[in-house]
Amino acid sequence: MKTKFALVTGASEGIGFEFCKVLAAKGYNILLVARTLDKLQTSAKFLEQSYNIETQIISCDLASPNAAQKLFDEVNDRKISVDVLINNAGLLFNGFFKDIDLASQEKLLQCNVLALTSITHLFVNEMVRQGSGRILNVASTAAWMAIPNQNIYAASKAYVLSFSHALADEMKAAKTGVSVTVVCPSYTDTKMLANPNQGNVLKIPRSMVLSPEYVAKKGIDACLAGKSNCIPGFSNRVGMALIQLLPKAWVTTFFGRWYRHAQC
Ligand SMILES: NC(=O)c1ccc[n+]([C@@H]2O[C@H](COP(=O)([O-])OP(=O)(O)OC[C@H]3O[C@@H](n4cnc5c(N)ncnc54)[C@H](OP(=O)(O)O)[C@@H]3O)[C@@H](O)[C@H]2O)c1
Repeated sequence: MKTKFALVTGASEGIGFEFCKVLAAKGYNILLVARTLDKLQTSAKFLEQSYNIETQIISCDLASPNAAQKLFDEVNDRKISVDVLINNAGLLFNGFFKDIDLASQEKLLQCNVLALTSITHLFVNEMVRQGSGRILNVASTAAWMAIPNQNIYAASKAYVLSFSHALADEMKAAKTGVSVTVVCPSYTDTKMLANPNQGNVLKIPRSMVLSPEYVAKKGIDACLAGKSNCIPGFSNRVGMALIQLLPKAWVTTFFGRWYRHAQC
């Protein structure tokens, strides 16, 4: 039987690397995508040695224009057929919208929204042609509400959530054999949370922080089961359900106060 290939973006560390480990343990070969070549090489070597699988690496900055097409062309040149696609790479900036430089915010949108959409479009057509495939998009609990001070990050993840739910339904209704899952982690213990330009300005209680291993396992389980939605952690699922019941203006005011307070 042909060994399946999974393509994971943002694969060299954090939640992405944990996705790779979970899939490698299930026998998938892994194509790792991120920017930094030596981190990719180290992570790929670890996977090959620990799980006896084949890996490939592609260095690619998904915040740059046309990255998705270049990535797709490179995968085709290597004659790799992607069975599982994980759109995990994402950028986050905390702070006032007006104060974060525009170029950084445009990169965030390029990576979190445009690259994710283009990569999905390119690979979903291949998957539909072959009559099977799994796509896992990484959003966030931030997708379920407007978040002042994480303004366009939350908006970008709301896009990922809405886009993934709609695409999941389109794929199912057309009986394509392709499933689309969106996973919405809350605070997770990775470099993103530790980086002073990203999550570290927030004072998050440790009890609220998930492990990347747990998030990855829940996400892959949901993806391989063909579920459309996954919110890791019972309290997060309850929290998101409650938030949907409250007036949006209240929720926005609450999170504005919490994020401004948490950044002091
Ligand atoms: N950590 C959290 O609290 C949390 C919560 C909810 C959702 N999420 C989401 O989960 C996903 C993974 O986050 P994480 O916390 O695991 O991040 P992370 O620890 O910062 O890891 C990021 C990974 O993405 C790669 N990457 C970064 N920028 C890239 C770019 N422009 N092009 C290609 N690859 C890039 C990094 O490698 P290079 O730097 O070498 O490129 C690295 O492999 C993101 O979509 C994030 O929004 C995270």
